[in-house]
Amino acid sequence: MRWFNHAIIEKNLILMGVLTLITVSIGGLAQIVPLFTVESTIERVQGIRPYTPLELMGRNIYVREGCYTCHSQMVRPFRDELERYGHYSLAAESMYDHPFQWGSKRTGPDLARVGGRYSDDWHAAHLRSPRAVVPESIMPPYAFLDRPLAYGDIADHLRAQRSVGVPYTDEMIANARADLETQARPDRDAAGFGTRYARARQGVFDGNAGVVTEMDALVAYLQMLGTLVRFSDVTPDQLRQQ
Ligand code: HEC
Repeated sequence: MRWFNHAIIEKNLILMGVLTLITVSIGGLAQIVPLFTVESTIERVQGIRPYTPLELMGRNIYVREGCYTCHSQMVRPFRDELERYGHYSLAAESMYDHPFQWGSKRTGPDLARVGGRYSDDWHAAHLRSPRAVVPESIMPPYAFLDRPLAYGDIADHLRAQRSVGVPYTDEMIANARADLETQARPDRDAAGFGTRYARARQGVFDGNAGVVTEMDALVAYLQMLGTLVRFSDVTPDQLRQQ
C-alpha cells in the first residue's frame, strides 16, 4: 500500500510550485547562510596584514579617483592571466578591503599584482603623465596628486576600518600618525612600525622627501599590492597559517 499519494501533488500545479519553492529554499539557505560568516569562508593565508596608515590613505585616493573604473584587482585562475600577471588572486588577499576593488572593467591592466613590478620613480612619473612613459597610453594624468596629503584624521580611518572587522590594534591606532610619517621618511627609525606591519617598506615614494603627499600614499599602496603572500617561499600546505 502506498503511504503517500504523490499524484495529488503532480496534478496540482500550484501545490507543486509551492512545495518546489520550499525545497529549493532549504537547499539555498544551507549553501548561502554559512558564507555570511567570513571567518569560515575565507581561508587564512600567511602574510596577509591590514594596510599601513600610508597605504590605507593611498587606497582611499585610489577609490576617490575612480581608478577602479579602468583597473581590476583580481587575477583570475586562467593560464593567460597567470602568465601576464602572476599567481591568481586569493580571497584572503582582499579580506581587509572595504569596499573590495575587484572591479568589473579592464581598460587598463589588472593591478592586483602590480606591487614591485616597477620602481617608485616609474609610478610617480607614470601617474603625473602616463604618456611620458607609455606613449600609447590613454590613462588620464594625475599630476595634482603632488599636493600635501591631509592625514590629520588618520587614526579615525583606522578606527572606521576596525569597526567593519579589520584587526587594527589599539597600538596601531595610537601610532597611526607616526607610522604614516615613518613610512614616507626612510630616515626615521622604523623599529615599531616594522613590528606592527610586516613587510611594509619605507620609501620616498614620490621622489620628494620633504612633504608627505597624496602621491606618496598612492604609490606606497600600489607598491604593496599583491606582495604580501610570497608564493615562491610556500607550498600550498604552508599557505595556511595553522
Ligand atoms: C580611463 C581609464 C584609466 C583610469 C581612470 C586609470 N587608468 Fe591606469 N591605466 C590605464 C591604461 C589604458 C593603462 C595601460 C597604459 C599605461 O601603462 O599607461 C594603465 C596603466 C596603469 C598602470 C601600469 C600597470 C602595468 O601593469 O603596467 C598603473 C600602475 C595604473 N594604471 C594606475 C592607475 C591609478 C592608480 C589610477 C587612478 C589614480 C588609474 N590608473 C586610473 C587606464 C586608466
